[in-house]
Amino acid sequence: MSPIKGLLFDLDGVLVTTEHNHFIAWQRCANSLGIAFTENENELLKGVSRIDSLKKILELGHKTISSIEFEDLLKSKNDFYLESIQSLSASDLLPGVAALLEEAKAKGILLGVGSSSKNAKFILNKLGIADYFAVVIDGNGVNDPKPHPEVFLNGAKAFNLAPNEVLVFEDAASGIAAAKAGGFTAVGVGNPNIAKQADLYFNDLTEFSLANYA
Ligand code: BG6
Ligand code: MG
Repeated sequence: MSPIKGLLFDLDGVLVTTEHNHFIAWQRCANSLGIAFTENENELLKGVSRIDSLKKILELGHKTISSIEFEDLLKSKNDFYLESIQSLSASDLLPGVAALLEEAKAKGILLGVGSSSKNAKFILNKLGIADYFAVVIDGNGVNDPKPHPEVFLNGAKAFNLAPNEVLVFEDAASGIAAAKAGGFTAVGVGNPNIAKQADLYFNDLTEFSLANYA
């Protein structure tokens, strides 16, 4: 592995607890369509864009709906989700995140976010960590969402680094696939379901030691 000069973080489920809020909001949406939706089905949606997530729910339930109903459901899911994260704050950062960001900043390692969420910048500001990141690539800025590597390739390009100089931190199968397809070292965090697919795996970021890589 080349010496690491940049870190790209997924947002939901890696930096912050919001993956659970997405699950609850999608469960409500699926149930409104009469489609059963548990944590198992939710694994298919982690890291997946809002539009692709609703398409997957409809596939699970073998349902078709009108484009108007589709747009209404996307809006009501997002409204419910935003309501549920109204009081989000730095106390919702996942274990080890704050310390790792500080350590990386002190070492001059470049930091970025590569997220499928269109709410990423809003959330980073709420958490008070936006200033750590030289680059934020989010769901508003990619043509091909995860598992396509575009989000992370754009991040590395903005760093002016090669993929093998950057670690990608992910909690989702789609994100691990995206990182590996882009030639990055894929670091799985906080989701045992992806431990085998990831190049490295940690239960949380307190277990990750930057000194071993940079
Ligand atoms: C990803 C989450 O980061 O963003 C998904 O893992 C979510 O659960 C997706 O559906 C899209 O997020 P948003 O905020 O644009 O609806
Ligand atoms: Mg995630």
